[in-house]
Amino acid sequence: MLTGNEIRQRFVEFFKEKEHKHYESASLIPDDPTLLLTVAGMVPFKPFFLGQKEAPNSRVVTYQKCIRTNDLENVGKTARHHTFFEMLGNFSFGDYFKEEAIAWSWEFITEVLGLEKEKMWISVFTTDDEAEKIWIEKCNIPKERIVRLGEEDNWWSAGPTGSCGPCSEIYVDMGIEYGGDENSKPGDPEADDRFLEIWNLVFTEWNKKEDGTLEPLPKKNIDTGAGLERIASVVQKKINNYETDLILPIIEEAGRLTSSEYGKTEKTDFSLKVIADHIRGISFLINDGVLPSNEGRGYVLRRVLRRAVRHGRLLGTSENFLYKLVDKVVEIMKGAYPEILENMEHIKKIIKIEEEKFSHTLGQGMQMVNDEIEKAKESGENKLSGEITFKLYDTYGFPYELTEEICEEKDVEVYLEEFTAKMEEQKKRARSAREVVMEKGQDSFVEEFYDKYGKTVFEGYEKLQNKSIVYHVENIDENKVMLIFNKTPLYAESGGQASDHGTVTADGLKGKIIDVQKQKEIFMHTVVVDEGMDLLKKGLEVTLTVDDERRRDIMRNHTATHLLHKALKDVLGSHVQQAGSLVDADRLRFDFTHYEAVTRDQLEEVEKIVNRQIFKNTSLKVQHMTLDEAKESGSTALFGDKYGDLVRVVNVPGYSSELCGGIHVDRTGEIGLFNILTETGVAAGTRRIEATTGVASYKTVNQMERLILSVSDALKTDPKHLEEKIEKTIEAFRETNKELEALKSKLASYEANSLFDNIEEINNVKVLIKAFEGKEAGSLREIVDKAKDKLGSCIIVLGTDNEKAVFAVGVTKDLMSKVKAGDLVKEIAKIAGGNGGGRPDFAQAGGKDGKKVPEALDHARKILTEKL
Ligand code: ALA
Repeated sequence: MLTGNEIRQRFVEFFKEKEHKHYESASLIPDDPTLLLTVAGMVPFKPFFLGQKEAPNSRVVTYQKCIRTNDLENVGKTARHHTFFEMLGNFSFGDYFKEEAIAWSWEFITEVLGLEKEKMWISVFTTDDEAEKIWIEKCNIPKERIVRLGEEDNWWSAGPTGSCGPCSEIYVDMGIEYGGDENSKPGDPEADDRFLEIWNLVFTEWNKKEDGTLEPLPKKNIDTGAGLERIASVVQKKINNYETDLILPIIEEAGRLTSSEYGKTEKTDFSLKVIADHIRGISFLINDGVLPSNEGRGYVLRRVLRRAVRHGRLLGTSENFLYKLVDKVVEIMKGAYPEILENMEHIKKIIKIEEEKFSHTLGQGMQMVNDEIEKAKESGENKLSGEITFKLYDTYGFPYELTEEICEEKDVEVYLEEFTAKMEEQKKRARSAREVVMEKGQDSFVEEFYDKYGKTVFEGYEKLQNKSIVYHVENIDENKVMLIFNKTPLYAESGGQASDHGTVTADGLKGKIIDVQKQKEIFMHTVVVDEGMDLLKKGLEVTLTVDDERRRDIMRNHTATHLLHKALKDVLGSHVQQAGSLVDADRLRFDFTHYEAVTRDQLEEVEKIVNRQIFKNTSLKVQHMTLDEAKESGSTALFGDKYGDLVRVVNVPGYSSELCGGIHVDRTGEIGLFNILTETGVAAGTRRIEATTGVASYKTVNQMERLILSVSDALKTDPKHLEEKIEKTIEAFRETNKELEALKSKLASYEANSLFDNIEEINNVKVLIKAFEGKEAGSLREIVDKAKDKLGSCIIVLGTDNEKAVFAVGVTKDLMSKVKAGDLVKEIAKIAGGNGGGRPDFAQAGGKDGKKVPEALDHARKILTEKL
């Protein structure tokens, strides 16, 4: 029997013999802006099909890693849904066509794989006589085992537009026990599980255009796709893909790690299958450079990873286990994908970090989901509102799909539209004038504007004030407008630097500029007009003034960001890369790549280095040069930044040099003081530092000082002795607590002893019936135990009013034939509006109404009188 790895290899060898060139599997991240992920073997070849690029080889064979997540909730439930799978494919770019494609696929499955010919069925597109003829004549397929299917099944395209064509599929009849009857055929819905599609041959000869029309491609092509896991399941005679040697070892390892066993219950199998599938997808996504995030591919990864973690929890493990499965995935796949072995440690690290992060919130989130589900059931509504599903997403990081799945398990409804509506609402709430401007900015008028007037001249590097002409007025609301001028001294938000604020004035006109955005070098100012709205017309001459104080704060933070970047590299290592930054007036935020939390010592060192640079009071140099010159001089350029031909380099001589369009201080000394406030993780492998400079740092230090002083005052000491005092106070507190516990325990035994003054005798049996107030269930139990010890043969009935009623009943063994604790507690709890039960020697129960305790105890006395 062939292993999964052998099938893959045989496939490649088979087509290599037929003069195909073997191409390595392409990345899961396609080189194609219209696709999020590689969903089929043909994705890397789209330009060849469309004739946009000449294929270097007209015959190609691949095994391609693929991810599909459109049906995520079914993964694990069915025999064949996967996120990650491998597609075996042979391709012809304008070379061979239907005849060879059909004949070779038949040869491979029957001769190489040795599958039984009689079990094979074929489908062809409704009008494809040619394909049918080839199957009959070349492969001897009886006409009865060929079905014609329509567009839904037998027309294939990778997206709404682009290359496409009719296809022909090969099915294996798994047997009547999988559904349908003796007349069933592929395509019959009731026989869906019975006829397993193993290979899809697409005759790609059309290009679907935006308007829906089809135009013939320059050449006829072949694109085929056979799911490796499916083929393996047929070859290895397994009832589902998960039991093939490609996946089963992962399931077994997952079982070991979660102390569960495959094949025992449907529920356990479901979770194990989810985990085994997902860890393959997760490992390969990270292998190909995806990191967990809240957008795009990163979100796909995060969703899948969180779903897997949750299924681990369902299996009862509270440990982080997922990253430990990577070894198995690598073991199975490293032959076909050697890079996964190379990246193994990185993959594990990322999974572990994300798993830890999610586990933390999962607990809290699960509590909330369960509470809400219970509420929904109690109220009879049986539904979680969009508000709740959104809160779970927003606060606890529960992907909507996860909430949906949990609700499905518990039979409670959720609606995607409601969730989406809440999401939109939040986006709107967050929408400021800035977004309004951006929306307008996205209009074609920016283009038109640019064509008409060219770009806005920015004078803000040299000036804080100028005279400008209004070029455009756009109303936002009653007193808010967006203005464009011929020139401006105000910096527009860019490169992470916040925009300047300022004023616009003229005779009779006063407005506050609260935001500046730019697009295509057109600067758009959001202005709150205090006076003279009606004067605002195109052609008006105005004075624009930059808010100097804010500008200075921003400059300090920007230069400090450069120093921080360099200091992090110095302290943590050269792997540190800027991953984003925000330079605002009140603080700076810097995101960078680094695997683990930065230690306190490291942070202190970074802070010290930056401050040392500040105290040096170095003069900054700003130069313009070509990108090559800049790189040669060792400047840091950010990955993905787009620079024009001539770049601006901001240089702190002797320390840092970066390409940057932002505004900086003249000398480092102006920064004053640099303080790191926090260091946190934002995503796997990305850390964030928030810090202050200048005025804000002064405020921070001041606040700290005040805090220390007020804590010292409260503890009646001075800052110098504060630490010592706190230690002593904690120690004293511990001592007091110990004493308190001892006293409590003494009190309890004293109470217990005094209880025995109340012993009654009912028909010669010692009975203790007593009501308390405000006692915990635990202490009732203690009293029962003590009383039993002390009295020997007895019955104890205790109740306490704790707003709600709590009862405890104890019966010694010799009396259990007459009275059972469980029965008695049940009877009396009823009176307080509750119920309960338990063992015959000890039982507890609750009730809604604590006021009813005395009545319930009287009832106990009555019952005992009857029974004893
Ligand atoms: N591109 C075809 C598919 O994915 C072969 O089914």
